[in-house]
Amino acid sequence: MKNIIVVTRNEELKQTIKKVCEVRMPKMNLSSISQDVYLENINAIPLEADIFLVESSSDGHSTELVLRKLAEIYPLTPIILLVTNQSQILLLQAIRAGVREVVNLPLVGKDLNEALDRVNKKISLNEFKNGKILSFLSCKGGSGVTFLSANTAYGLAELANKNTLLIDLNLQFGDAALYISDQKPTTTLADVCMEINRLDSDLLESSLIRVTPNCGVLAASTRINLDQEVNPEQIEIILELAKKNYEFILIDLGRQLTSTSLRALDKADIIFPILQQTLPYLRDGKQLIDMFLSFGYPKEKIEIIINRQKNDATVTLKDLEKTLAHEISHKMPNNFEVVNNSINLGVSPLEASKNSNLSKSLIEFVRHLTGIPVVPSKGIIRRLFNFSPILE
Ligand SMILES: Nc1ncnc2c1ncn2[C@@H]1O[C@H](COP(=O)(O)OP(=O)(O)OP(=O)(O)O)[C@@H](O)[C@H]1O
Ligand SMILES: [Mg+2]
Repeated sequence: MKNIIVVTRNEELKQTIKKVCEVRMPKMNLSSISQDVYLENINAIPLEADIFLVESSSDGHSTELVLRKLAEIYPLTPIILLVTNQSQILLLQAIRAGVREVVNLPLVGKDLNEALDRVNKKISLNEFKNGKILSFLSCKGGSGVTFLSANTAYGLAELANKNTLLIDLNLQFGDAALYISDQKPTTTLADVCMEINRLDSDLLESSLIRVTPNCGVLAASTRINLDQEVNPEQIEIILELAKKNYEFILIDLGRQLTSTSLRALDKADIIFPILQQTLPYLRDGKQLIDMFLSFGYPKEKIEIIINRQKNDATVTLKDLEKTLAHEISHKMPNNFEVVNNSINLGVSPLEASKNSNLSKSLIEFVRHLTGIPVVPSKGIIRRLFNFSPILE
């Protein structure tokens, strides 16, 4: 979410800007200060401004002062100037202060929206996101890799407002996109690999299924000879590019370990092996964890998730931790009805069954990943994540 600071004394103008920003996707967080406060006390401005909207006052002198001070203190933050008449002197001052856009007053919503779009585009081009790569995998089919990776991607985007990419690297049985959307992919991972020499941010972005403004999926191909079409070097290039453009990159690795999926594991910041409480999972899980340690992955890079957790299972969590010699980091409850409903409809339980135990665990998981501290639950997702725009 972008933080916009409006510098004006005009209450009516603030309300008009608020209305424009409220309907934008992703949402924009608004706060405002009056020019007087700003000039008297620089500390009145919150530091995390992404964009300034400055109304030019009737006396050009104070506008020039505001612009100069902002440019001096926040040289990298774009300024949009709102003007009643574009006098040459004012425009010259604006250019010197590095103003990116000038929008005429009285304000027309469309003009402000277009200016914000242009500024946003420039910001995201300049931003180096250094996204986190999270790899989800299993040693057995049907453990819940796709359900958990797809819904975590959805949760990061919708609850924590993180720009998120889900890559379906389950080359034989890829179906991640269908878990959170009803769209059929027109471009897939294999197509992106074929264009790897001219791959850039725009091409990657245009190859995604856009589930929500913040959540994109790079779907797996349905073609058969994918091992020949997707190789480790290509995956590395895609992940390096994705790290610059998305805050979180989640990978559904399925259950097969290939040279390509091993490269994705190498590049991962965190690996999430997904296990269930049965003996076969215990045996194969042990092999998987030992293999990761033999690769030299640090223990902290591996966070085990127990899916379909049951208190009365024969294999207890203690048994698992002892045999695996590794802590269980996360637990997802067993809720067949909610999961199957969600998969059949292609709608996340975070949307369709907000109050289910599974949604609550997914919320906790998103909190853990984003570092947002856990507060006593009030049961309402958006309130927990504190998203409401502010404008005094
Ligand atoms: N928390 C859960 N509670 C109840 N059932 C679940 C849960 N998670 C997954 N399932 C069941 O397991 C099935 C498989 O889930 P999912 O497709 O995510 O597994 P997968 O590991 O991706 O499988 P594959 O190896 O085939 O790709 C689901 O269709 C659902 O029936
Ligand atoms: Mg799967």
